[in-house]
Amino acid sequence: MEKTNHKQEINITPQLMERINELISHYPEGKQKSALLPVLHEVQDAHDNWLSVELQNKVAELLQIQPIEVYEVVTFYTMFNQKPIGKYMFEFCTTSCCAINKAEDMMEYTCNKLGVQPGQVTEDGMFSVVGVQCLGACGYAPMMQVGDFYHEHLTKEKIDAIIEDCRVGKVVLHDK
Ligand code: FES
Repeated sequence: MEKTNHKQEINITPQLMERINELISHYPEGKQKSALLPVLHEVQDAHDNWLSVELQNKVAELLQIQPIEVYEVVTFYTMFNQKPIGKYMFEFCTTSCCAINKAEDMMEYTCNKLGVQPGQVTEDGMFSVVGVQCLGACGYAPMMQVGDFYHEHLTKEKIDAIIEDCRVGKVVLHDK
């Protein structure tokens, strides 16, 4: 588990709690742990897209499971963030098809353009760049995910345009 000095305000609003209870209700009584993945997504979405240890502990409490059961899921999946990330996180697939189609060049170009290393956040808090494993869009390599959406057949020109669109608020992050 990644340790961070960043503080996170935990805010389980009545609306969020209602959504969590609804997700739990999809599973038999006593099997609330099965709701862990969707609950983590909801909680992360409601907390600036990251999950501090304290927030993970809160999720464990809400689901009446052990904190370690939450940690092992959060640390396994790259879709859960253990420290603050940029508003726009560029997740470059770096696996096989994308790798042979210059994913690394695209990622390096983006990092240089934004002035960050992979895993860092730009000073204005707008962008992060990370490498992830295959996102299942191998036929559209090289590609990256930003929020809920895929950007495919990436070129430097496309990356320039996406960054510009993010800066002017034209990039939608979620499809709900
Ligand atoms: S190898 Fe990149 S999406 Fe599968």
